[in-house]
Amino acid sequence: MAPTPSPWWRSGVVYQIYPRSFGDSDGDGVGDLAGITARLDHLVELGVDALWLSPFYRSPMADFGYDVSDHTDVDPTFGTLADADALVAGAHERGLRVIVDWVPNHTSDRHEWFIASRSSREDPKRSWYVWRDPGPGAGPPNNWTSNFALRGEIPAWTLDERTGQFYLHSFLPEQPDLNWDEPAVREAMHDVLRFWLDRGVDGFRIDVAHALGKDPELLDNEPGRSRHQDWPSVHPRLQAIRRVLEEFDGDRMAVGEVYLLDQEALAPYLRTGDELHLVHNFVFLNLPWSAAGFRATVDEFEQLVGPGAWPAWCLGNHDHARIASRYGPGPARVAAMLLLTLRGTPFLFQGDELGLQDVAVPSERVVDVDGRDPVRAPIPWEPPSRAGSGAGFTTGEPWLPITPEAERVAASVQAGDPESMLTLHRELLALRRSSAALREGSYRSLDAGEAVFAFERGGELAVALNFAPERRRARASGRGRLLLSTRPGAQAGAEVDLAELELGADEGVIVALG
Ligand code: GLC
Repeated sequence: MAPTPSPWWRSGVVYQIYPRSFGDSDGDGVGDLAGITARLDHLVELGVDALWLSPFYRSPMADFGYDVSDHTDVDPTFGTLADADALVAGAHERGLRVIVDWVPNHTSDRHEWFIASRSSREDPKRSWYVWRDPGPGAGPPNNWTSNFALRGEIPAWTLDERTGQFYLHSFLPEQPDLNWDEPAVREAMHDVLRFWLDRGVDGFRIDVAHALGKDPELLDNEPGRSRHQDWPSVHPRLQAIRRVLEEFDGDRMAVGEVYLLDQEALAPYLRTGDELHLVHNFVFLNLPWSAAGFRATVDEFEQLVGPGAWPAWCLGNHDHARIASRYGPGPARVAAMLLLTLRGTPFLFQGDELGLQDVAVPSERVVDVDGRDPVRAPIPWEPPSRAGSGAGFTTGEPWLPITPEAERVAASVQAGDPESMLTLHRELLALRRSSAALREGSYRSLDAGEAVFAFERGGELAVALNFAPERRRARASGRGRLLLSTRPGAQAGAEVDLAELELGADEGVIVALG
């Protein structure tokens, strides 16, 4: 009997697209859905299996789409519902799955639900948001603060003068929190899931999933104990969301942004197997570049969730500095090998496959409230000498500056260069696709030399990654043939003894054992 194939979200690789910055089809300088559809072949040639679209819903754009004013329509900046359908169809024709962002913790303050809710204390939708009387001294009801701290700590509460109560907002005042204790809210947000599932999407990335449970008594946070998120009520809520996905056939999937910087707190979101299918691990994403640190973190998470649960790994997204800027261009190649060889589902952020660095944004062009513009700069598709200053992203004036290195790092330039970061990604993804041990095999870390993180996959492959900017002996156990190195020009097929192998500066290798 043939083994049951594992679902796509376990064996595949997901690529995150930030719609404003991927492709602009109409020359207004902002990316759009048709611009993404036109570039889908890049994903096929890269070798990923699925894409995740950051929000493209109707929004006043106070948080660039994470402030949704209509969950079931496309913002005109990005196109129309027909464009969304065409994108899903175009992806499916190419064998790519599509997951979309779902932002359940809050809406825009311009959402009709909030407009009704704030209109009076008696409005039927008052209970859809979190309203409270002023606290002591007419101040906020408790000490919770907003997650956007760039302008200093601000309370997570804003007073609505007209009705005399404060409303909760975990992010901007323009993003009031929905009240998930209210059953009607849960139902309405489940219907949003059904709307997109009906249109054929394969799943969701759930924005701030851990915030769907909060202390209903709204008591103050204490040092080491946040009551603002990760409250036990979050778990049945995530289970109910999974059941909505299971109303539909096909392997629909939910991956949660569970931003908890403690793997012991994160593991329960995955362990039971009846909530989220995958969780993003921000302990891993925020690690400094150290072999010992990565080994300890991966070992700990593998141990906490057990062999039945399936990890997900990412090192970048639209909220964090670029990998090549945080760790440096040399380590970025090693980071790519790490991400694409661990046991679990890798998530790549657009442009990391090109080794893009953060782009300096002059103060007069800063648009984000939380300092995230540099990672959101548009993708350079073509060298400006050929495609003009929009680098194939746009024919207009891009909403954020395009990297000054576009001539060298443009996708079309890297595609023809056997030593480029793009080529390395294509090789890693092709190898992963061809190797069941890499996709599905067990993980076991190996003792290795200083600054080297080494592990075995499925008993068939070994990976050894040198985190140092100088040569290091691998000093791990295992012999075999070299399959791939991050070092351009390395001899695939060469015999390797991991005990003796000298890794170059910033070099990672994959070895077929035996
Ligand atoms: C998540 C998103 C981030 C957004 C925030 C509020 O953290 O990734 O971009 O600003 O939620 O929705």
